[in-house]
Amino acid sequence: MATKLWDKGKATNAEIEKFTVGKDREMDLYLAECDVLGSMAHITMLESIGLIAKDELPVLLAELKNIYLAAHRGEFVIEEGIEDVHSQVELMLTRKLGDLGKKIHSGRSRNDQVLVDMKLWTREQIKSVVEAVEGLFNVLIQQSEKYKNVLLPGYTHLQIAMPSSFGLWFGAYAESLADDMELLLSAWKVTNRNPLGSAAGYGSSFPLNRQMTTELLGFDTMDYNVVYAQMCRGKMEKTVSFALAGIAATLSKLAFDACMFTSQNFGFIKLPDECTTGSSIMPHKKNPDVFELTRAKCNKIQSLPQQIMMLINNLPSGYFRDLQIIKEVFMPSFGELLDCIKMTTHIMSDVKINEHILDDPKYDFIFSVEEVNRLALEGMPFRDAYKKVGLQCEAGEFKPNKNIHHTHQGSIGNLCNDGITALMNKTISEFNFDKVEEAKKKLLAI
Ligand code: ARG
Repeated sequence: MATKLWDKGKATNAEIEKFTVGKDREMDLYLAECDVLGSMAHITMLESIGLIAKDELPVLLAELKNIYLAAHRGEFVIEEGIEDVHSQVELMLTRKLGDLGKKIHSGRSRNDQVLVDMKLWTREQIKSVVEAVEGLFNVLIQQSEKYKNVLLPGYTHLQIAMPSSFGLWFGAYAESLADDMELLLSAWKVTNRNPLGSAAGYGSSFPLNRQMTTELLGFDTMDYNVVYAQMCRGKMEKTVSFALAGIAATLSKLAFDACMFTSQNFGFIKLPDECTTGSSIMPHKKNPDVFELTRAKCNKIQSLPQQIMMLINNLPSGYFRDLQIIKEVFMPSFGELLDCIKMTTHIMSDVKINEHILDDPKYDFIFSVEEVNRLALEGMPFRDAYKKVGLQCEAGEFKPNKNIHHTHQGSIGNLCNDGITALMNKTISEFNFDKVEEAKKKLLAI
């Protein structure tokens, strides 16, 4: 069966083939549109250096665009016996255009095809993540502003410690996301470089114009050195996964807080009924399964950098089939993370807040430092004031003054949400998604 690009008339053992292809056909379906875009850029460049005739280019581009549109409609399939997306696209092209279709692979290898496909695909995924994170960020900032005057106990060692507020709690997670975006921006920058033209990992004797494909695909610049371009397989994914892990860590911490705060022993927040799940035996139950699953999924995403590291660690330079497995761990994680962000956004915008937590005297001691500070402001040395209040606490004589006055930057009375929003907006503005979108539109406008 001559369905392999590398077929030389000798059949591969069916079991071996099944093992080597593994889940790749499933993963490659994610890449169909990107594979076609990469080919469109590549052949446009091939025409410019005389490897495809002037009149052949529009015919090839039109057919590739048809394949792109089919993939866009979700109608692209990798047929039985076809190894991967690259083989499928070439097969469809040759079926339709005969020998002309066979011309598109000049100066290219599946190694740089999959490299460029992964870059194009990851760029789109990063864009979706940024948009989703921005949505969650906005909800958190709104809630922080709305509930800035509602106090709750702060904890150290899970022992009640000092006054905190819902303004601080929501705002803290917003600021955490702003920092996470910085890491994602760095990951975006290394993703947004063109590996195409590195071929099998050592370039080509054809005078490929890599600057041209870089511009056609809307990349910032290229991975210049062809050996390094191939070394980026796995390295790019690892870098991006560190950024995803950062966002996941923020979400899983928030999820844990939310699970804890919704427990009856805390009673700080209440999830909307429609966002809870019941028990098959206990009729009163309203469980925060959404946050438990978010925590678990996000903890799993935090293992992504380690998984990718284990796959690429100690590989020498050059291509190895090991790299194929990265797709299986890397690609599905975007959907999982996006689901978690979506769920968290939904619940955070509807969560009910207990405005009277601190009426319970068990929280009185969180005001002990306020009292020490009041005495210190009146002139008593801090250590003496600390001792005095400490003795009152021990003797059961401590009377809290719940009118607190925190004014410094980032404190209960001065949340600096404007500063946090400015940080986030600046980072987001540096993702040049528009340039990428424009290049794609231009490439498809044939
Ligand atoms: N499925 C392969 C991968 O993901 C594509 C590249 C195949 N290259 C090769 N030399 N066998 O790595």
